[in-house]
Amino acid sequence: MTDILNPGSLESLVEEARKAAEKSYSPYSHFRVGAALQLDNGAIVTGANVENGSYGLTVCAEAAAVARAVAEFGPSIRIRAVAVANLNQAPSPPCGACRQILSEFITPDAPVVFPAAEGMCMLPFQELLPLAFDMKAT
Ligand code: THU
Repeated sequence: MTDILNPGSLESLVEEARKAAEKSYSPYSHFRVGAALQLDNGAIVTGANVENGSYGLTVCAEAAAVARAVAEFGPSIRIRAVAVANLNQAPSPPCGACRQILSEFITPDAPVVFPAAEGMCMLPFQELLPLAFDMKAT
């Protein structure tokens, strides 16, 4: 299994996200986003944003990757690390909806790497989405 604490493997996760962004379907915004998830089974699953002419139906790269991971490995997946990249040299932290989608499957301290205004940023997931909605919460 890839060691996610090794910065080199996070770098390769970012590279997978960048490669995924090349598959983006984004004829409306031309903003090409890719996401790569490192699962606890060692697999890396990627996704790209898929836009729609009815704009609100657009699927973000992170959401596409989560759906693909569940479709491939089933409902008990756990996400150990996330990388997001875009081909537009712009900041792109995961949007609020994607944070909530990730929260369903991610380990709270999992690193999330994304392009920020100051360059690449890495934060533990729980800092990106404290107090996520959780049906199990009491
Ligand atoms: N997008 C993502 O793929 N992930 C995000 O977290 C935010 C935005 C996509 C959606 C749309 O295709 C484009 O970026 C511009 O908003």
